[in-house]
Amino acid sequence: MTTICLLPGDGIGAEVIPTTAEILDTLDLGLNTEIHPVGWRCFQETGNALPESTIAAIERCSVALFGATSSPSGGAPGYSSPILDLRQKLNLYANLRPACSMPVTTSQANIDILIVRENTEGLYIRNERWTDRDSTIAERRITRKACERIARIAAEKAQQRRGILTIAHKANVLTVSDGLFRDTVRETVKTYAPEIRIEERLVDALAHDLVRTPENFDVIVAPNLYGDILSDIASALVGGLGVAPSANIGDNHAIYEPVHGSAPDIAGKGIANPIAAMLSLGMALSDIGHNAAAEQLREALSATLESGIYTPDLGGTSTTAEILKDVQERLS
Ligand code: NAI
Ligand code: MG
Repeated sequence: MTTICLLPGDGIGAEVIPTTAEILDTLDLGLNTEIHPVGWRCFQETGNALPESTIAAIERCSVALFGATSSPSGGAPGYSSPILDLRQKLNLYANLRPACSMPVTTSQANIDILIVRENTEGLYIRNERWTDRDSTIAERRITRKACERIARIAAEKAQQRRGILTIAHKANVLTVSDGLFRDTVRETVKTYAPEIRIEERLVDALAHDLVRTPENFDVIVAPNLYGDILSDIASALVGGLGVAPSANIGDNHAIYEPVHGSAPDIAGKGIANPIAAMLSLGMALSDIGHNAAAEQLREALSATLESGIYTPDLGGTSTTAEILKDVQERLS
């Protein structure tokens, strides 16, 4: 029996994940769900933001759907972001972040981009420290092994898409670490999928082109931090964080999650856009073999948006519950 592990977390995570779980009921695919605690509230209640029982559940279930968690901006002793920890613990080395045009006025047309973000290294190893009371150092790790495995995933995705792969790097400044990233990705893709057209761009120029000519991009592969930033830019071109899904993929586990955070500014108001979480569920369903249901879900979401039913972040007036109701009606 396939089981989906639901990890709502904090803020709007606890709104969009239960909402998305209702879609799963409507689709009636015979999938089980389990709900497990994670995040800041869990930390305040139990002293642990990522309980062992939650990790065990994710490992036991086929896939997990994560909402978002809050992190206090100044940090808190003993607290660290559960999703960052999960990416490390479960070796979820590839973060797939698609950005596709949406049928809303806040989205540009003709955009179909997949950002493949390295998910375990770079600056996100969080190896930073004070060297004296006025100075800090943050280390950044790039390894050949991680570059090779992210390159293979990016190549596979490019093969399934339009066959163009752009490598984001800053090897003119970070000649050693970004040099290793660029060269390893290029060599791996050349060997693994020689038919793919490889392009490489300095990440700042790429950010510019992403805004100016987004229709020219197919797959972009990037080290962790660049991929994080580029994917938020890409999401802004198609309607914003409320419609940006993602998948954290490893060899043995996968966690799907909307790109957005816990959005404390709108939490509890009933207006969180559930589309990013629902599209994340769609990615999960495709990956566990429910392609038809995933396609049906994507079509229903598009139809709902086309009919003018959308939340305030997209310029609409509908609530989370109204989106759910409309999507459910289209699915049944
Ligand atoms: P955020 O993504 O939560 O919000 C940024 C802006 O986008 C806000 O104005 C918010 O209202 C809006 N927004 C985001 N998702 C939306 C949705 N589904 N519907 C409508 N509007 C939406 O990022 P922010 O404000 O930087 O961080 C807030 C908290 O979330 C922080 O504690 C941060 O650490 C955490 N965070 C957690 C993430 C995760 O768990 N994966 C990722 C990013 C941030
Ligand atoms: Mg981000």
